[in-house]
Amino acid sequence: MSGADTDAILDSYRSHAADLGQRFREVDADEFLAPVMAHIPEGPLRILDLGAGSGRDAAWFAARGHSVVAVEPVVELSAQAASLATGDRIEWITDALPDLASLDGRDGEFDLLWLCAVWHHLDPAMRVRTLERAAALVKPGGRLIVSLRRSADVDGRLTFEAEPEPAIAQARAAGFVLVDQQSASSAQTHNKMAEISWCWLVFDFPGDLA
Ligand SMILES: C[S@@+](CC[C@H](N)C(=O)[O-])C[C@H]1O[C@@H](n2cnc3c(N)ncnc32)[C@H](O)[C@@H]1O
Repeated sequence: MSGADTDAILDSYRSHAADLGQRFREVDADEFLAPVMAHIPEGPLRILDLGAGSGRDAAWFAARGHSVVAVEPVVELSAQAASLATGDRIEWITDALPDLASLDGRDGEFDLLWLCAVWHHLDPAMRVRTLERAAALVKPGGRLIVSLRRSADVDGRLTFEAEPEPAIAQARAAGFVLVDQQSASSAQTHNKMAEISWCWLVFDFPGDLA
């Protein structure tokens, strides 16, 4: 994928930020997170939310006492999180996958890496690099939770196939161990109508503990 492709994806989010940010936030987080709720460890955790959008999940984590670093390249989306009452538990960073240069020097900081509804915007090479960065940033003994969009994007944003098997193989090559895989229907009204489905993948990162 070229830099121009990434720019086109992010420009599309920028152009529709008001509408999309609201759509992301109107999803009931408890219902949405149900398939992986049992895999979110007791806290308080240090969580890295990658492609955090308008902050729905970051706010949910913060409200439960976790501290979150939320990375989002589209400030028109992240700025909307200012309206969420999250105290000072969320640090927002404007940056993009796969390199996450802003997080240099923070290796091994995070108990949980959260990559929700972003994988389909990354091409295979970006995914490899993303997983390398994830393996550096997660603590040994930490966890990575990823949701994969199983259907093409009906809104015209550039997407790539997001099948679980290659994602699992790429994650394994980066040192992650699959602990669960769950299918889910869409929680967003707009996507429900388009019959978009999701696959959640939960990985442990044994790291030095292996
Ligand atoms: C479908 S939205 C999901 C937002 C949020 N995770 C949620 O579930 O509500 C996809 C998000 O991925 C972000 N994104 C797209 N390409 C990205 C990249 N290369 N690095 C980081 N985020 C990216 C978009 O800006 C957008 O916020």
